[in-house]
Amino acid sequence: MSILITGGAGYIGSHTCVEMLESGYDVTVVDNLDNSSEKAIERVEKITGKSVKFYRDDLRDKEALRKIFRDNKIEAVIHFAGLKAVGESVREPVRYYDNNLISTLYLLEVMNEFDVKRIVFSSSATVYGTAAEMPLTEGMPLGAINPYGRTKYFIEEMLRDLYTADNTWSIALLRYFNPIGAHKSGLIGEDPKGIPNNLMPYISQVAVGKLEKLHVFGNDYNTADGTGCRDYIHVVDLAAGHVKAINWVLENTGCEAFNLGTGNGTTVLQLRDAFVRASGIQIPYVIDPRRPGDPDEVYANAEKAEKILGWTAKYGIDEMCEDTWRWQKNNPDGYAD
Ligand SMILES: NC(=O)c1ccc[n+]([C@@H]2O[C@H](COP(=O)([O-])OP(=O)(O)OC[C@H]3O[C@@H](n4cnc5c(N)ncnc54)[C@H](O)[C@@H]3O)[C@@H](O)[C@H]2O)c1
Repeated sequence: MSILITGGAGYIGSHTCVEMLESGYDVTVVDNLDNSSEKAIERVEKITGKSVKFYRDDLRDKEALRKIFRDNKIEAVIHFAGLKAVGESVREPVRYYDNNLISTLYLLEVMNEFDVKRIVFSSSATVYGTAAEMPLTEGMPLGAINPYGRTKYFIEEMLRDLYTADNTWSIALLRYFNPIGAHKSGLIGEDPKGIPNNLMPYISQVAVGKLEKLHVFGNDYNTADGTGCRDYIHVVDLAAGHVKAINWVLENTGCEAFNLGTGNGTTVLQLRDAFVRASGIQIPYVIDPRRPGDPDEVYANAEKAEKILGWTAKYGIDEMCEDTWRWQKNNPDGYAD
């Protein structure tokens, strides 16, 4: 029996492969390597001393998917595969809808054919859109505000419809907050292509001299120091949440959303300062104008995940920065080294 991990060569996927293997699960990965490297899989094997069955395929290739299900006894699926850059999704909405929605539709179709009805889906806090109050709880109204977010919202809706039509399915919708950090080994981590879209890889690339300075968008938000405040979560904690979610889908039926966050907010400048402490390197920054649509603060109420999945985040901001720095310092060019 094996767990199929789509997008398992990616940032969160590779860390989840490690936690799943270390929890005793067999892992099969399918990834088209559009935004990742096969080296991540080799490193997962190195960390765990266990092997991963890897298929380099696109999920929109239904025949290739069928072959994976035919050749392996798949018990459940963790579905990470997707495009994830908000700005790019605004510029190229059709590409995002095509990749994220068609992949998922084909995956669900093939899962049905092979009678595999347990899935953990990578959703995002972005499905809440611009919420009026914090912290975010799972029952709050949804309203994604960009094409990327809408692909997450539509997939959640598809999965809710699927469960309504056939309640033998078991579906966990995991709404991630802001994953950062890297595995303690320094062997796997986030390896964005081009200029990073996210704050942490941007800071760490300034630290290794690949970027000149950090751009902070706005310092007049209603937060402790005026810079935007987000709920950062260590990627290893997030990966551990997937093990708990897999345990849950294997033992229950239902369709449930869970926030995976720490419940604590950290501002841009607080994160920058923590990184300086962890690395001993100064991170110069400039204050730029606000970006349209950025809220003052976003943080989770993660009590549901604690109560039902038995999961809570363990790591704090300092460890997130130390682990990011170890990865970045050892692999300044990511997997291209
Ligand atoms: N990183 C974040 O901040 C964040 C936050 C919330 C949600 N998510 C979601 O979590 C998931 C994983 O994110 P990540 O940060 O690890 O991203 P990532 O880009 O590192 O990983 C996604 C993987 O999916 C693969 N992929 C994409 N389209 C595919 C397709 N059609 N067929 C096969 N493989 C395909 C990519 O090659 C990549 O390896 C994504 O669905 C993302 O939207 C990420």
